[in-house]
This record gives sequence, structure tokens and C-alpha cells, in this order.
Amino acid sequence: MTSHIMPTYNRLPVTFERGEGAWLLDENNNRYLDAISGIAVCNLGHAHPSVHKAICAQSEKLLHTSNIYKIANQERLADQLTEKSGMDNVFFCNSGAEANEAAIKLARKFGHEKGIDYPAIIVMDKSFHGRTLATLSATGNSKVQQGFAPLVEGFVRVPYNDINAIKQALADNKNIVAILVEPIQGEGGINIPAADYLNQIRSLCDQHELLMMLDEIQSGIGRTGKFLAFQHNNIIPDVCTLAKALGNGVPIGACLARGKAAELLTAGMHGSTFGGNPLACSAALAVLATLGEDNLIELARQKGEAICAGFTEHLQGNPHIVDIRNKGLMIGIELDSPCAELVKSALQQRLLINVTNDTTIRLLPPLIIDEEQIKLLVDTLSTLINNYTEQTAQKT
Ligand SMILES: Cc1ncc(COP(=O)(O)O)c(C=O)c1O
Repeated sequence: MTSHIMPTYNRLPVTFERGEGAWLLDENNNRYLDAISGIAVCNLGHAHPSVHKAICAQSEKLLHTSNIYKIANQERLADQLTEKSGMDNVFFCNSGAEANEAAIKLARKFGHEKGIDYPAIIVMDKSFHGRTLATLSATGNSKVQQGFAPLVEGFVRVPYNDINAIKQALADNKNIVAILVEPIQGEGGINIPAADYLNQIRSLCDQHELLMMLDEIQSGIGRTGKFLAFQHNNIIPDVCTLAKALGNGVPIGACLARGKAAELLTAGMHGSTFGGNPLACSAALAVLATLGEDNLIELARQKGEAICAGFTEHLQGNPHIVDIRNKGLMIGIELDSPCAELVKSALQQRLLINVTNDTTIRLLPPLIIDEEQIKLLVDTLSTLINNYTEQTAQKT
């Protein structure tokens, strides 16, 4: 039968009916180990009882009112997010792209207040910030932009993890008002910058009076072993965007701001009908409570180490492995040639993984993954990788 879904995704031939923690079950009750968590969304795993309970309880009372009224859950969530992050206030929306749109608007407003008529934002090669027109223009991947010109103006691109390139861009362009960067690039290939990269960006932003804007949409909410990845660097940005795991599957995005950035928008300048509604905020509140109660952030760090140690051992001596890298449970295994086919072979073994930037296997397992599941993940995927690289080597 013809599908009536617009074909914007190449979908794998499987449909899931239910989830239980790190497992997804298909229509025939086959269990798949989920090592991608709906792309960094279900950090607490599937059907987590605390999220289930919170959204059921909230839906009995109220799903939605409007941002023209006070929303108690939104106030509570903003209190907790600002307390955990060191930021001052929050704008709530429904997705990562929207959170970044808010950040881009903040940067532009900041520029205009400084008397800059054509404010520009430094963005990075291989970045990913979303699919709306402004966020795809900020994204450093020409495939995402192809066919959608004219792009939104006001972005200056530099290589990732290259402080000198930022300094050069600042010297060349007096209209720069902000730097937008992922603490770890997710879609770009799990690219982990130098340990002091964010600290150096912080200093440059202070020196040049720019907004430091961090896209933590993939790296945030405990995944890297800190609540937010920038907390590994003991810095605080001026703007920080969240989405994905904030609601563990219930759509919610957030743009957090601090200091001067927190004072830029006043009533009527930005909005969202659904943004921060009682239901979405109830899910996010349950997520934050569970992360703390179950010590999941520290566990993410430990589990990430265990998984990478396992892969290092099993893939030792395989000359086609370029790198195994991670920050907590944001894990990349880079091969020396394209390996997208591995996603299908893993699916046949009932293991869900992802390949990004052609050659990097990306793993984003749920923070609740247990020891047995870790062993299954490492054993199954190492065997698949070793067989795959052997076969491709034979072909060439
Ligand atoms: C770093 C980053 N920013 C932004 C986005 C866009 O988020 P959304 O798909 O919720 O709009 C993503 C999604 O993959 C992301 O990884």
C-alpha cells in the first residue's frame, strides 16, 4: 500500500509496539536492545514508570492552558533548570530547532541593542542545529541546506575545535555578536573538542562582549556524565539550548539565558502556543527528579567508561578502527570507511545503533542500561564490526 507519509526519512523495516527500559519490542514481541534511545531522547529508557505516572496524573487534571496564564509546572521546571545550570531564566518551546531559533533571536536582539544592524553569529563546520530555515542555515552540513536557498543570513562558519579560526573570524568581522557551538558534536560524528576549547570560547566571548551559546540538545540532561556537558569545563554560557531528553519522549525544548542575555526579550517578542504546557513540563519534572534519585548522571559516566573499555578490548588489533571516543554515554566508534550498512546488520541481530558522518558508529544508549545489556551491546556490535571490516577488506 502506498504510504501517505511525506518521505523525509529512510525508515528501517521495523515497527515498535512497546518499550521496557532499554528494550523495544516489535509487533511480534521480538526484543531489540536500544543503543540509540530515539537519538538521545529516551535517556531514562522506554515507558519509565516515573514519567508514565507524572503524565497520567497531569492528564487527569489539565493538558494545556496557554502562556497567557501562569503555569505552575513551567515555573517549577524553570526553577529547577536554572538551579541545575547556573542560568537565570528559560523560554520553553517544543523542539531543539525551536530552542535554537530562540537562541538566534536572542543573539540578533543583543546585536541590535549594541547598535549592530547586521549581527552575525559564528557557527561551526559539521554542526547540526535543526531543520527550520534559520537553524539549517546555522548547520554545517551542505546536505541539510541543499534545495532550500536562499539561506538565512548572518552566520560565519569556522572549523570546529579551532580557536585560531574563531579569533581570525572576529578580527575579520566586526558584526559578530555570538558564538553558537555544540559542546560535543553529535550528528557531525561524536566530535569531542580539546579539553579547554569551551573555556577558550568563554574567554573570547568575555573579551569581545559576545554571547556564548551552547547547543546542548544532544549532549544535555545527564548524557555525558554531567547534567550539562559544559559543566565538565566549569564555565557557564550566556545561552544554552535543550530539548530531546528533557521530556524523555514528550516533546519539549528550552532556551536558557543568563545575565544580559536573560533580559533581552520582553512581552510580545517571542512565543509558542504549546511551549512549556502543563503536560510537557510534568514529564520534564519527572525526568529531573529521576536523574537525581537514581544517580543516573554519575552512572552515565561509569557506564560510558565500561562500554568503551569493552570495545577497546574487543576491537583491539582491528586496523580499520580509527578511534573509539566518548564522553559518558555519547559514544563514537570511527571506522576508516563508510559503514552505514552496519545499521541494517545490527537490526538483524536486534540491536539498534546509528551511523553518522558516514564513518562513525554513534551509540547513545539509555542511562538506565544495565551490565548484562552493556555486555550484549559490546559483544554483538564488536562481532558485527570485526566481520564487516574483514569482509570489506576482502572486497578491496
Ligand atoms: C545538537 C542538536 N541541535 C539541534 C537539533 C534539532 O532538534 P529537533 O530535531 O528537536 O528540532 C538536534 C537534533 O538532532 C541536535 O542533535
